[in-house]
Amino acid sequence: MNAGGLNQGMSGNISVRCGTRMLITPTATPYDEMTAVDVASMTLGDTAGGWTGPKRPSSEWRMHRDILSGRPEFGAVVHAHPISCTALTMMRRGIPACHYMVATFGGEDVRCAGYATFGTAELSAKVLLALQDRSACLIANHGMIACGRDLSQAMWRATELEALARQYITCLAVGRPTLLSTVEIAEAQHQFDTYRPV
Ligand code: 13P
Repeated sequence: MNAGGLNQGMSGNISVRCGTRMLITPTATPYDEMTAVDVASMTLGDTAGGWTGPKRPSSEWRMHRDILSGRPEFGAVVHAHPISCTALTMMRRGIPACHYMVATFGGEDVRCAGYATFGTAELSAKVLLALQDRSACLIANHGMIACGRDLSQAMWRATELEALARQYITCLAVGRPTLLSTVEIAEAQHQFDTYRPV
């Protein structure tokens, strides 16, 4: 994530479903120093936040747990603070249907969830709302979150979302984008249904 420009320092966190548990990156640990043994394990059904591991789990464990337990289609969640997505969230703006890639996130836009303090149940609830029928959202004055059936799909979406945010911001510097229609986005979604190498 750091190498790809998605993250810096200790910002962001990643979780992966593992049966009835989730594996999640440790809190307050620079990515450069993180190794596999640092990853924490938590029970998805445990609302109290019990965990095992050498380090405490990410402060955003509620958000990850609520997504993985509420959205069974997802097996991985990537949260980051990439520059372009985060700049939009400072303006409290989502991303409209300015490019067909919006369709890969499940609909006609990528919403921006409301603001709440990081790590809180309130933030988790706002993110879940913005993620309704979507696989990604922005988070006000904070960053973005992208989900997928597995880690590679979640990472692909995270990378594409940041590219889309950058394209949208570049476009706004010139003028107003022409938005795609509901039908055009639905057609792009249909194309994505069979978009795979084999
Ligand atoms: P953690 O270091 O606890 O994962 O938190 C980083 C972050 O980005 C909080 O939103």
